[in-house]
Amino acid sequence: MPETLTPLIPELEIRWRTSQMTHRIVRDYKDQAVIVVIVLKGAFIFAADLTRRLAEQGLRLRLDFLRAASYGDSDLSSGKVSLQLDVSLPLVNQKVLLIDDIIDTGLTLSFLAQHLKRKGATEVKTCVLLDKPARRLIDFKPDYIGFSIPDVFVVGYGLDFAEEHRCLSGLAILHKEQNPCHQSQSMSK
Ligand code: XMP
Repeated sequence: MPETLTPLIPELEIRWRTSQMTHRIVRDYKDQAVIVVIVLKGAFIFAADLTRRLAEQGLRLRLDFLRAASYGDSDLSSGKVSLQLDVSLPLVNQKVLLIDDIIDTGLTLSFLAQHLKRKGATEVKTCVLLDKPARRLIDFKPDYIGFSIPDVFVVGYGLDFAEEHRCLSGLAILHKEQNPCHQSQSMSK
């Protein structure tokens, strides 16, 4: 099936927005220690750029990673999220900043934030590069959002389709005959 890519957000604009987000996050956390939890795999490039900026601005960060997968048709509220890799740092009495690539239905981020709170974090704030508000199934708003985008399937800058396109330096819309967002199958992050 032929795929075509249309540029959506170029690298320079991502860099500019990331630096704006850095200022807000640094202002909010000031001198507090924070554990940054990065959702694999899609958030790895965004999180690498953002965390280096946060550290340059003086935030004391410790990093950890987790991985989730969603099952079922993401158009249905019954879509289930499961954990494939958990964090290893103890989170009791810690402030956590959870970073993901994109929020779509909201089920993943909501599930992961609750999971981290159950592990003892006193506060879990959420940060995403992209938000597709039109697809939300639950009432969940991340604390920090890079860009709001329409209901299109996006690849590049860490985001993939079938593990391809992650290394594009900017974000692009992937056009296929069937929108991969609406396929009924397991979707790893
Ligand atoms: P939600 O918010 O629906 O997000 O739980 C589930 C996961 O779906 C993936 N997702 C995408 N991945 N391009 C991608 O590469 C997209 O346009 C897209 N929309 C959703 C993503 O892994 C998210 O964490």
